[in-house]
Amino acid sequence: VKRSNYRIASIPADGIGPEVIDAGIAVLKKIATTLDTFELDFTNFDWNSDRYKKTGKYMPDDALKTLKTFDAILFGAVGAPDVPDHISLWQLRLAICQPLQQYANVRPTKVFRGTHSPLRNCKTGQLDWVIIRENSEGEYAGHGGRSHQGQPWETATEVSIFTRHGVERLMRFAFETARSRPKKHITVVTKSNAQRNGMVMWDEIAALVAKDFPDLKVDKMLVDAMTTRMVLKPESLDTIVATNLHADILSDLAAALAGSIGIAPTSNLDPTRENPSMFEPIHGSAFDITGKGIANPVATFWTACEMLSWLGEKEAADQLLEIVEDVCEKGIMTADLGGSATTIEVTQAVCDEIDSKL
Ligand code: NAI
Ligand code: MG
Repeated sequence: VKRSNYRIASIPADGIGPEVIDAGIAVLKKIATTLDTFELDFTNFDWNSDRYKKTGKYMPDDALKTLKTFDAILFGAVGAPDVPDHISLWQLRLAICQPLQQYANVRPTKVFRGTHSPLRNCKTGQLDWVIIRENSEGEYAGHGGRSHQGQPWETATEVSIFTRHGVERLMRFAFETARSRPKKHITVVTKSNAQRNGMVMWDEIAALVAKDFPDLKVDKMLVDAMTTRMVLKPESLDTIVATNLHADILSDLAAALAGSIGIAPTSNLDPTRENPSMFEPIHGSAFDITGKGIANPVATFWTACEMLSWLGEKEAADQLLEIVEDVCEKGIMTADLGGSATTIEVTQAVCDEIDSKL
């Protein structure tokens, strides 16, 4: 049999990015060689804030052309204390996601076996969500401007852009995702009471798409009320679809409710598969713990599972996620989850478990 060989571009970038990406690649290489049913080939890119400070650019001019030759992109985190966040975000992460039309940002969250939700009554299995975030337009379309800078009458606008094309393709992807999950339930998040243009069209398109999914249970929530439902009735939610900004905020809340921002993954998908998709832990570069060797690698391991699954290796992905949960259940966890293990110790424990289980 001919084995699939996947070419992965890795962009560790800043802060704890390189620490968790090293851990993720170690685990991915381990599972590939152990299963021996597929191969992974990594190419590392040093596109980070140091490069920006030295050359004025995060990426070379032909970066997108280069990335298009890969099957997937594994990304760490971007952001440095001495570079404004809007520069690092727009010149690296968004500079990849938006032109590569990775319009669906998929953010699963659950309470792992062996870990605890800060919600007193929430047990493993009661919080198991996937948030689908619009990733190409909305509030992060970059429209707007500033005039009269520095004057008392300075004006700035930040215009949200919602297109029928952009909303409909995202809604369809979200409804398909809901259909693939056992609960067959989707919650459409909106703010159409206050935002009476884009959000009203968003609701209308959701209702239209819902007609093609009669097997799904569909409900609608205003984003503010959604935060209370996530906290008070986590078991009442399954698949959640929201705008770029709303889902950005809700997914950090989701990660915290599941135990730590250090476990949650993100996939930036081009569902048409014309371009490679990008996979990253949800957290940022975490300057406060950089270099201490205590960054939780679990978010990157789950990210690796999401990447394998997207590449067509769902069985390996499911096995790896089980193993990561087994390691948590054994109590081998970093400090953010209440444990005392280092990044390397958790990584080694996952590799050992791959050895003994697969
Ligand atoms: P952050 O996610 O980097 O950190 C928030 C808190 O969570 C910190 O206390 C940090 O120590 C902790 N934390 C994060 N990841 C962890 C892990 N794997 N294990 C243990 N603890 C972890 O968010 P913050 O502080 O708002 O941003 C720091 C920088 O990261 C900024 O420059 C920001 O722009 C950037 N950022 C980049 C993202 C990306 O590349 N996709 C996403 C979010 C932030
Ligand atoms: Mg965020």
